[in-house]
Amino acid sequence: MSKFSDCLLDKNLFPSFIVSTDLTPLVDNEGVRSDFINLRNEDSGVKKTNVCGWHSKVYGYVDGQFVPGTEFSHIKKIFDLTEEFVNEFLETNHTDLFADRIFSWLLENGPGAYNVIHNHGKLDLIGVYYIEVPKNSEGLTLVRTDAFTHTALCSSNSSSEFTSEFTIDAIIGRLYIIPGNLYHYVKPFDNEGHRRSMVFNINCSPK
Ligand SMILES: [Fe+2]
Repeated sequence: MSKFSDCLLDKNLFPSFIVSTDLTPLVDNEGVRSDFINLRNEDSGVKKTNVCGWHSKVYGYVDGQFVPGTEFSHIKKIFDLTEEFVNEFLETNHTDLFADRIFSWLLENGPGAYNVIHNHGKLDLIGVYYIEVPKNSEGLTLVRTDAFTHTALCSSNSSSEFTSEFTIDAIIGRLYIIPGNLYHYVKPFDNEGHRRSMVFNINCSPK
């Protein structure tokens, strides 16, 4: 029993966050996977943070039209639901913001492939939806980079406010949203299969 009381004024000062929702009741994930494979066959991809994986071109709405095309209806549905989920999050948390610009791309990692540590530049929110996750494959690892990491307190216990890294337990059909400032990377896996995901860059503006 401590002789002191009321010491902790705010345990969540300057916190970060991760929010998530299960989209499986709203989408046909097998359809999303089918769209993914069709796009994979027609998009030679670009080199970004992926090592040995595939990174699609950027998709989104251009002049009101969904690119790569409305025939990819399952991918489009995930895109539209992500916008809706983010707007609900912004509303629930009493911001005066809305999701103004959203861009997306697809990522595929086979065994041994990974994504180097990076951030997404000037951006408000990052999203990731997991389409396919092989056994023993983890999701994104988020990395704390503020000056708290210079103190002995950082990683000195297992609580989330003291930790320097957090790895998402990637679950098929779930969408995760994190602040755009967070550095992150993806570890390789050594099983067979493919880790397939849909990633979002989201900029917010005042209503
Ligand atoms: Fe990223």
